[in-house]
Amino acid sequence: MNDVLLRVERLTAGYGEAPVLQDIDIEVRRGELVALVGSNGAGKTSLLRCLSRLMPVQGRIVFDGVDVTEASADAVYRAGLVQLPEGRQLFDRMSVEDNLLMGANNRSDKAGIRTDLERVYALFPRMAERRRQIAGSMSGGEQQMCAMGRALMARPKLLLVDEMSLGLAPVVVEQLMDILLQVRADGVTVLLVEQDIHLALEHADRGYVVENGRIVLADAADRLLGNPEVQRAYLGI
Ligand SMILES: Nc1ncnc2c1ncn2[C@@H]1O[C@H](COP(=O)(O)OP(=O)(O)OP(=O)(O)O)[C@@H](O)[C@H]1O
Ligand SMILES: [Mg+2]
Repeated sequence: MNDVLLRVERLTAGYGEAPVLQDIDIEVRRGELVALVGSNGAGKTSLLRCLSRLMPVQGRIVFDGVDVTEASADAVYRAGLVQLPEGRQLFDRMSVEDNLLMGANNRSDKAGIRTDLERVYALFPRMAERRRQIAGSMSGGEQQMCAMGRALMARPKLLLVDEMSLGLAPVVVEQLMDILLQVRADGVTVLLVEQDIHLALEHADRGYVVENGRIVLADAADRLLGNPEVQRAYLGI
């Protein structure tokens, strides 16, 4: 089996005339946790949206051995490329369980869905306790757990995580990070976008730094953490 799960080549994309992403080359191997870091407006969310096929692109995206550059959002989702969106985007008025089940609405294997639901509840006991609660009435951390659970219900091969820690207390972020590491240990590859650059690089295998829509650095995560340029620009050291 090819050990490259995602390959992006010369990707250029934008919302109007001027591109917000230019000539992006990235690669994610099976089992890796790769961090994508950069300041506000650098283009991180846009890149994830390109991968999820929510934006037209130039260049090439190959996922799990298949060229998906022209594929639909639905098709890549079914293929196992699943985004955990910035801001969670839950259905506020629906119950936790109904939100979780939305993640599996591309599947028809009822028994498998049941099993996966129980696995999500085992991973997030708090979600099991709150399965009948309205999602919008939970805390931010609980909503993030619900959003992660929903993404897992799609049986992702690659999970794109956008700003998981945003607005959450450090102790909650730590819990979420532990769960993400567990998910990764269970075989899910992760591409992690984070404002908290230290958090991301601390847990990642490799990282890419995006500035103004371009990849300016690519290296092992520990080397990026020790890189004086990165320290100065992003870590306040
Ligand atoms: N829907 C949109 N329409 C037009 N321009 C957009 C849109 N979304 C983002 N942009 C622009 O694209 C650029 C990249 O934005 P993007 O949201 O991808 O950055 P980001 O790295 O995720 O930033 P943040 O850290 O704030 O989440 C910015 O200049 C932004 O203003
Ligand atoms: Mg963003």
